[in-house]
Amino acid sequence: MRPLLGIFDSGLGGLSVLKKIQERHTKFKAIYLADSARIPYGSKDPSEIRNIAFEIVQWFNCQEVSALVVACNTTNSLAIDVLKRFSKVPVFDLIGSFSEIINESKIGVLATPLTVSSKAYTSHIKFYNPLSLVLEEECPEFVPIIENGDTGSKELLEAVETHLAPLLKAEVQAIVLGCSHYPIIMPIIKKLVPSSIRLIDPAVFLSKRLDTFLSYPDQSNESTKPFADIRFCVTSDPSSFSLKADNILGVKPEVEVISLCPTSCVS
Ligand code: DGL
Repeated sequence: MRPLLGIFDSGLGGLSVLKKIQERHTKFKAIYLADSARIPYGSKDPSEIRNIAFEIVQWFNCQEVSALVVACNTTNSLAIDVLKRFSKVPVFDLIGSFSEIINESKIGVLATPLTVSSKAYTSHIKFYNPLSLVLEEECPEFVPIIENGDTGSKELLEAVETHLAPLLKAEVQAIVLGCSHYPIIMPIIKKLVPSSIRLIDPAVFLSKRLDTFLSYPDQSNESTKPFADIRFCVTSDPSSFSLKADNILGVKPEVEVISLCPTSCVS
C-alpha cells in the first residue's frame, strides 16, 4: 500500500512543496490541507500559530496519514515542537531538511514577518555553520499578492526588488526562499538575482529527505497521473482555491471544505 502523506500550509504555498515531492516521487498518496480561512499566517500572533498547529496535527491524526509534511515555514518556525509532540507519525519539515548543507558564508533568507522574527532560519543555519552570517528579510506583501493571483503585477515586482535590495547590497552568496509561497514567483526572483547567487528552495531537500520513507528510486512501472491521488481540503472557499491551484499545478482539483476544531490547550 502506498503511504499517505498529510501536507499542509495556510494556502497555495504548500503546492510548491507538493510539486517538488511529486517531481521526485510517484509512490504516494496525499491529503493537502490549506487553512484558507486563516491565511495569512505570517502576520499572526505566535500563540495563534501554535494553536493552529495543534488543531492541524489532531486533524491529520484522525485522517490516519503515514507521515506529516510541514509545507509552511511559519508553522515550522513557531510550532515544530507542537507538531512533533502530537503527531502520531513521522514529521518532515522544510527548515530541518536543508540547513546542514548550506556551505556559503553569507546567506540571505526571504520569509514572512513571523518566520523572520522567530530567527529559526538563523539558528538552524548557524547550528551547522557557526561562522556564517545570516540576513533575514521579511516580505509581508508577497503572500497576499500571490494568493490574489497578481503574480504579474507591478506591485509584486516592486516589492520583490525592495526586499532583495538589502540582500544584494550585502553581497549574499545564497538566498533561501523561506516561505513556501515564494517558489511560485521563482521566475520573477530569478530575473532580479545574479546567477552567481544560489537560490535555495528548501522543498527540494525535503523531497530528498522523503527518499527512504517513500522508497526512492521507485522500482514499479506503475504510472499515475500527477496529483490524481491527492485529496485537496480547505477551511474556506474551495472553488477559488481550485481555480488558483490550476494555475500552479496545471490541473484543476476537486476541493472539499473541512473544519478544524478550535482549541486553547497548547501553551
Ligand atoms: N506559506 C507559508 C510559509 O511558508 C505561510 C504564509 C502565510 O500564510 O503568511 O510561511
